[in-house]
Amino acid sequence: MSRSHVLLTRRLPAKALARLEETCDLEFLDGGALTSAELAARVPGKHGLVTMFIDPVDAAVLAAATELKVVATVAVGYNNIDVAAARQRGIVVTNTPDVLTEATADLTMAILLGMTRRIVEGDRLVRKGGWKGFSFDFMLGSDLRGKQIGIVGLGRIGRAVAARAKAFGMRIAYTRGRPAPGDDAEAMPLDRLLATSDVVSLHCPLTADTKHMIDQPALARMKRSAYLLNASRGPIVDEAALAWALENRLIAGAGLDVYEDEPKVHPGLLNLDNVVLVPHLGSATTETRTAMADLAAQNVVAVLSGQPPLTPVG
Ligand code: GLV
Repeated sequence: MSRSHVLLTRRLPAKALARLEETCDLEFLDGGALTSAELAARVPGKHGLVTMFIDPVDAAVLAAATELKVVATVAVGYNNIDVAAARQRGIVVTNTPDVLTEATADLTMAILLGMTRRIVEGDRLVRKGGWKGFSFDFMLGSDLRGKQIGIVGLGRIGRAVAARAKAFGMRIAYTRGRPAPGDDAEAMPLDRLLATSDVVSLHCPLTADTKHMIDQPALARMKRSAYLLNASRGPIVDEAALAWALENRLIAGAGLDVYEDEPKVHPGLLNLDNVVLVPHLGSATTETRTAMADLAAQNVVAVLSGQPPLTPVG
């Protein structure tokens, strides 16, 4: 049987590569951000394509990929892929759900504590030599116990965040998604969630419907004492509006793992102390990235050997 040709936009951990190499010849594009034209130039003749969430797999790339059977993105979010165009061409699209849920929920909690307890701000102050010693009302943050976290997108990651927040004594409100059986979470419309939550945490996919869902009016609806946390996709938040809201103390603080135009960050956010800025690290642990890569490899091998994919999207 002839070997399949698979293009990977980045190198993956050895275990995933070894799995692919059993039946496929591999080519790598180890550059930084790729344009659609660069990707389109490399896909002809490839049967499999392994991508990251930043690679634009649009209709032009898919049109150039005349032999392509599977696009396996090493991520849970797949807003970078034109899934409808792939479906039209009979190309299977897969992602890597579940294996990154816990790591992403952990990072969300790290940001939540980082912003409500002013950890990053404190670290900056100490390094600058600005700490003058103990003072009773110095750098006070906010408790989590008894507060409400409003989860926008109660899916796999949202539910994992809810479980952690509950252990910290928080009440759970949500919009979009559904609780697991037995979960104690109150459903409410977005407007009420924004107006009543002490922390609003975003865990929904980026779609035409969720783009700029958190805009100036949404931020103005939040309590002045509330925090916004985004560990989903940057464009769900209007970053300029967020900079404005933080600058004007319309909300107490924010924590971002994702940005509208990564790796750029809105300049208005960079000098503010009340925002924690993390460089898209949601799933970035060794164990989780290894599991994600291996799942993507399993999906490619399955499709190219005529088996159903493990985790198709859509
Ligand atoms: C990362 O952002 C992912 O979608 O897995």
